[in-house]
Amino acid sequence: MRIGMLTGGGDCPGLNAVIRAAVRKGILHYGDEFVGFLEGWRGVIENNTMPLNLETTSGILQKGGTILRSSRTNVKKVPGGFEKCLASIKANKLDALIALGGDDTQSITLALGEQGVKCVGVPKTIDNDLSGTDVCFGFDTAVSIATEAVDRLHSTAESHNRILVCEVMGRDAGWIAISSGLAGGADVILVPEVPIDIEEACRLIKYRWEHGKKFSIVVVAEGAKFPEGELATHDASVDSFGHARLAGIGQAVAEAIEKRTGYETRSVNLGHTQRGGTPTAYDRMLATRYGTAAIDLVHAGKFNRLVVLKGTQISDIPLADAIAKTRTVGEDLLNVMKGLQPPR
Ligand code: F6P
Repeated sequence: MRIGMLTGGGDCPGLNAVIRAAVRKGILHYGDEFVGFLEGWRGVIENNTMPLNLETTSGILQKGGTILRSSRTNVKKVPGGFEKCLASIKANKLDALIALGGDDTQSITLALGEQGVKCVGVPKTIDNDLSGTDVCFGFDTAVSIATEAVDRLHSTAESHNRILVCEVMGRDAGWIAISSGLAGGADVILVPEVPIDIEEACRLIKYRWEHGKKFSIVVVAEGAKFPEGELATHDASVDSFGHARLAGIGQAVAEAIEKRTGYETRSVNLGHTQRGGTPTAYDRMLATRYGTAAIDLVHAGKFNRLVVLKGTQISDIPLADAIAKTRTVGEDLLNVMKGLQPPR
């Protein structure tokens, strides 16, 4: 078969591992040929491609980013976008298309599938918020990076009797915040799922101070909000999927804490450090399993589906189910967090 591949949306560690695994299994076991579209859906619209073969995918397993590069191109917003995609798919004589991406990218995959393209999706996002899969690749690496940052913040916060607020990514879901916060032993964790209770955060910080711990670490997800508050954004602009560029909630929380407690409070935003660099062993493994599963799905003739991890097993679900709603942090993890804090 001739198969197209693309990586869309924000990049994340493990994209190259998926590409390598799918291409290797496709060529070595099925005799496939591959075409890589560059810069996400933009490359499909513009028919901008690169060859994907054993040579071009060699040595990329441990590399961050994506050799196909990425973009947040929304085909629905481009005049004649779908027609152009269909023309590229035809011009490249493709039998199927594998799209690596989160909910935005997969909404386009699904739309093309509904227009007759034989599509398979692979769940990518450090935010870990796609429904139907227990884990998206890239998440583990982001959590590891954020946890190391939280570890490092501890010693400097303690040296200076400071409160340090660490802003992490997570637009709609607080998976990175709760995971790195729990793994790093943060004293306060703020997620988009729960409106920020600044009085409670200050109570926890003051409790520690009064019990001899004159420093605290707060982890806040970029999408967390004060009650009735707006999302903290970099500016008024939105991307082609209508998402604002989030930034600044960490600083807002730091100011609110300092005002109420009088303790010196600083903020740091980890930003794109969470998306860069080499994937963890876990993400390389997961990405490799997803890549081989994606090519197997194509050859099983199962289209418009997303490969997923359920427990320890790889399986697949309809693409429509994966993008129907955001998978958010549940009560179970929030209760773990509360169990470590002194009760009100
Ligand atoms: O969707 C993943 C993500 O990393 C979000 O956590 C974050 O809000 C967004 O991408 C940032 O996107 P960009 O790199 O396009 O600014």
